Amino acid sequence: MERLICLAAGYAFGLIQTGYIYGKIIHKDIRQYGSGNAGTTNALRVLGKKAGAVVFLGDFLKAVVLCLLVRFLYGKTQPEMAPLLMLYGGLGVVLGHNYPFYLNFKGGKGIAATSGVIISMDWRITLVCLLAFIVSVAATRIVSVGSLLVVSIFLAMWIGFGLFGLLPLTGAYLTESYIVVLVFAALAYWRHRANIKRLLNGTENKFGSKK
Ligand code: G3P
Repeated sequence: MERLICLAAGYAFGLIQTGYIYGKIIHKDIRQYGSGNAGTTNALRVLGKKAGAVVFLGDFLKAVVLCLLVRFLYGKTQPEMAPLLMLYGGLGVVLGHNYPFYLNFKGGKGIAATSGVIISMDWRITLVCLLAFIVSVAATRIVSVGSLLVVSIFLAMWIGFGLFGLLPLTGAYLTESYIVVLVFAALAYWRHRANIKRLLNGTENKFGSKK
């Protein structure tokens, strides 16, 4: 039951579409331009640096706030389960962000929100993800490469840390957390399927281009 509550609360938080709202304020639905995505990269592409920063912060913070809220609510009463519930809440945020019912289920790709979950869960994984993102995007000038790397590292490090007893979860809750983190990664790959196709045939948008 707690899992469902966290998922549902997360979904509600995820519905706060910073990119869409920002665009609406200046009368531009960013989903009609660039890659058609409602997230940070397309806001940066279509509306500029300030919009990119605002959209990233909004989408990132909604996940952080939800995760902290879950920790606050369950951390004392169910400490052994609270990190798992934070993951469920975070997954809800990504689902709400990617599939907002009021926008015909056409939202973003969930990377800023997933980053908010990662930073709420583990600072060591966050540091590695951040470094990998910066280096890969600087080297390729392709944001989707950094995004896919971040979710892959999240999954690999989460499982690795879990196996070495470096996570605040044990037993069945730990095993369940592997599955939830796998869903984060699978969702990101699914939402990036057009990007992956373009990456494979060498036509993915580079940072600074208008599409
Ligand atoms: O996080 C989204 C990014 O990886 C790709 O965005 O707009 O280039 O499809 P976009």
